[in-house]
Amino acid sequence: MKALSITKTIQNRRATPPRLFSKTEIEKEMIEQLLENANWAPNHKKTEPWRFVVYTGEAKNTLAKNCEQILTKAQADGYPVVTEKIEKFVSTLQRVPVAIAIVLQVDRGQRLPEWEEVAAVSMAVQNMWLTATEMGLGAFWATPGFLNLFSEILGLEEGQKALGFFYVGEIMMDYPSPGRGDVAQKVVWK
Ligand SMILES: Cc1cc2nc3c(=O)[nH]c(=O)nc-3n(C[C@H](O)[C@H](O)[C@H](O)COP(=O)(O)O)c2cc1C
Repeated sequence: MKALSITKTIQNRRATPPRLFSKTEIEKEMIEQLLENANWAPNHKKTEPWRFVVYTGEAKNTLAKNCEQILTKAQADGYPVVTEKIEKFVSTLQRVPVAIAIVLQVDRGQRLPEWEEVAAVSMAVQNMWLTATEMGLGAFWATPGFLNLFSEILGLEEGQKALGFFYVGEIMMDYPSPGRGDVAQKVVWK
């Protein structure tokens, strides 16, 4: 079998913890390429259900501050979130150069089960992730349990749901791969 460069990119893709990102800003052109490639993900009935809100610089710092306020208030009102989680989430938002909110737009005609739309958005995220890998950038998909508290601050509209944040940055230090179990254990050949 001829060696495929995509195999190397797939295996090199890492969920790099954002604490290993440098604070160096990422060129807008590179972020645009990530988004362009995301937009080429497969999707059923041409719904193209991925939406993104890109935060960098001051907008990202403001988002961090607003999220902190929302979480602190929710906690005071009895929402089950521990202070360390709030601190970690907010400090991550402050430190990463790029935070992209991943948003699902549910099909207005409701022609598809939601899982198909989630699958399409996930494929768009994988496109971004592989592209970042080829660019030599680190990336991470964070899905904190309190995401639904941020609908308003993210400017989400009717039928939109946040599926997490995609963080991107230059890598200061490589993170080891957790590897994968043998694919043969997950496949049945008939
Ligand atoms: C939908 C999705 C959500 C994830 N959310 C988180 C998360 O909230 N926190 C986290 O530490 N890792 C999260 N991850 C990353 C996984 O931890 C990571 O992919 C796994 O450890 C395997 O590492 P690798 O991707 O470098 O091979 C998420 C991955 C996916 C696909």
